[in-house]
Amino acid sequence: MGIVSVRFQQAAGVVLDRGEVIERTAAFVRSRLHSDSSGHDWWHVERVRGLALLLGRREGADEYITELAALLHDVSDYKFNGGDLDEGSRVSYDLLRDLGESEACARSVAEVVRNVSFTGAGSVSRMRTIEGMVVQDADRLDAMGAIGIARAFAYGAVKGEAMFDPDQAPHLHASEAEYLARDGSTINHFYEKLLLLKDRMNTESGRSFAERRHRVIEAFVHDFVAEWRLEDLPEL
Ligand code: ADP
Ligand code: NI
Repeated sequence: MGIVSVRFQQAAGVVLDRGEVIERTAAFVRSRLHSDSSGHDWWHVERVRGLALLLGRREGADEYITELAALLHDVSDYKFNGGDLDEGSRVSYDLLRDLGESEACARSVAEVVRNVSFTGAGSVSRMRTIEGMVVQDADRLDAMGAIGIARAFAYGAVKGEAMFDPDQAPHLHASEAEYLARDGSTINHFYEKLLLLKDRMNTESGRSFAERRHRVIEAFVHDFVAEWRLEDLPEL
């Protein structure tokens, strides 16, 4: 029996319709995430849900699986749960089964949740379904652009990371283990992850949505470093 069963187990014979499953899933996620201040708050989930549904419509993804997976994609993040890469997919599977969903549906969603996270420049994406691809694209789009900048510094602050350290060169991590063990500045995170995302989009729609957001972060990092070096000032 899942860890959520006390709250959500259905009385025998009561079948929830899809709208109710979505509502209860959203309520469950919201109750777990609302106080987070690392950029993984409920509003991140809402934005990913909206982006994933938009992308999914253009890419012909199943709307129900896409919405459930978007809602659950950060339900347990390995960076905050002691490094367990599978907890989120277990929680998702158990929740959906407790809500009366089919094994096939629960499995599809759990697989997306398991594979959604970025784990280093050298790691390949393991996403196999179009629903997974659009949820991952949506999650990546929310790490780019103006919101992506804000989230990176919010995360850096929670982790006690320096904004920038001119003595520390960015490093492209060759493996998942190396990426998870890194220790660097938030500006380095732009080089190590955020500026790579536009070329990592799974779908055509994701690539087109990423263009403007990529330009925003590129210009931001450029100006940040220019200001640091006093290269932005007018001729005196
Ligand atoms: P994913 O959704 O791929 O799992 P993460 O959970 O790694 O993404 O990141 C969530 C947010 O936190 C993103 O906006 C990301 O840029 C930011 N973030 C992750 N790691 C760092 C870091 N070391 N420094 C600054 N921001 C980070
Ligand atoms: Ni996310």
